[in-house]
Amino acid sequence: MGPSNSILLVLSSCFLFFLVVARKEITLEKSEDDIQATAHHYQTVELSSFLSSSTCRQSIIGDTKKGYLEVVHKHGPCSKFTKDTVKPLTVEEIFTNDQSRVDSIRSRLAIKTGKKDVQGSKTTLPAKSGTTIGSANYIVTIGLGTPKEDLSLIFDTGSDITWTQCQPCAGECYKQQDPIFAPSSSTTYSNISCSATECLNTGRAPQCFSSTCGYRIQYGDGSITTGFLAKEKVTLASDVIDGFLFGCGQYNKGLFRGDAGLLGLGRGKLSIVTQAAEKYGKVFSYCLPSTASSTGYLTFGSSGIDSSVAYTPLSDSPGPSFYGLDLEAIYVGGNKLEISPTVFTTSGMIIDSGTVITRLPPTAYSALRTAFRAKMTQYPLTKGFSIFDTCYDLSKYSTITIPTLSFVWGGNTKVDIVPQGILFPLSVNQVCLAFAGNRDDSGIGIFGNTQQKTLEVVHDVTAGKVGFAPGKCA
Ligand SMILES: *[C@@H]1O[C@H](CO)[C@@H](O)[C@H](O)[C@H]1NC(C)=O
Repeated sequence: MGPSNSILLVLSSCFLFFLVVARKEITLEKSEDDIQATAHHYQTVELSSFLSSSTCRQSIIGDTKKGYLEVVHKHGPCSKFTKDTVKPLTVEEIFTNDQSRVDSIRSRLAIKTGKKDVQGSKTTLPAKSGTTIGSANYIVTIGLGTPKEDLSLIFDTGSDITWTQCQPCAGECYKQQDPIFAPSSSTTYSNISCSATECLNTGRAPQCFSSTCGYRIQYGDGSITTGFLAKEKVTLASDVIDGFLFGCGQYNKGLFRGDAGLLGLGRGKLSIVTQAAEKYGKVFSYCLPSTASSTGYLTFGSSGIDSSVAYTPLSDSPGPSFYGLDLEAIYVGGNKLEISPTVFTTSGMIIDSGTVITRLPPTAYSALRTAFRAKMTQYPLTKGFSIFDTCYDLSKYSTITIPTLSFVWGGNTKVDIVPQGILFPLSVNQVCLAFAGNRDDSGIGIFGNTQQKTLEVVHDVTAGKVGFAPGKCA
């Protein structure tokens, strides 16, 4: 080896050494990035946070909401329903009812658009165009009449007419928790004549009982309510709406057990949103709690809406009553799922308070499931249940680390789903990915109430937008 060769060797070793050091630095930097990214794209949660407790917790976060109506889960300790009036649903029943709601929404849309419903249904496709009430999770209390009677109503953004069981229950009334509304004890109740414009203007063929205007809603599951379309004073917290058109139900039968009726928050003519437009500008907001043992709220009007609310435009109404939104992308653990945008534009999407589990086009759902499972490999998968196919056995865990999950809505509005909206607990030991695929990609997507948990959800019909703000109730 000559001297020049030795120098070369020394020089090249130095260079190599330098390279190694430099590389090492790069590697170090990169792994720190990875750690940060990992911390940001995963979240560790106590398993107990998915379960409701036996006592009710008030959970409104932030400024005391003036004039809010409390929203409670029908089957939790915050509702005044006793087990004796309302038998709690089994998880099977929840998801069977949920699927029939999804099917009935689909059949209403098919009727509206004249499209043949190719999706069909494994169970019975609702023969009528009414929404199936589904599991009817959330209840809100309003006052009706003078003096006012408090009524616990199902909270439903997927239908329009507000109705309650009414004395004398000329046909039949089911058992409810509140005393049944008595028009004869109210000084502000009035019937509507069948020839009055209010009756002719309902957007549906008037039903008449001799000369008194009536209404009839047949739900997909065979439940029914029919009676007089009447006018009455409604009290919402401290606000009063006079001359509110509602259904005074004389024959009511079906799955509403315990509830006094339904509060219709849809987009149609007869909904409380439209009827109270002058007072509230067709704006309402709500927050659904993370579990059945916390409370949420419903407020009307735009005062007090937080500046942190991020909005997405309402799409053209995909059908009567519904609020359509454009879903553009889904992120799991910080990664955007590879789903062609036409998958979402073909299916369309609505936001619905009465559907429990978000439904996605199967192409989008399978991408979500694959990505989610890949980030959950440390937990043992167990067999699916009902509409769920990705369930985990967590009997050996008390906390769980799960990937973050976000939906990106039209206008690039990214909304993070809370852990209680990502996993649905079937039991103390078993949780499932809380999403389901439709049977084919043409079926409409539905953003359900599980995924809306703890978000303030603002519906601003006048401005044509829906907004979301995180962490407004717990
Ligand atoms: C409303 O109309 C029904 C049916 O015609 C009738 O039985 C009832 O007494 C009327 N109520 C009032 C307050 O007019």
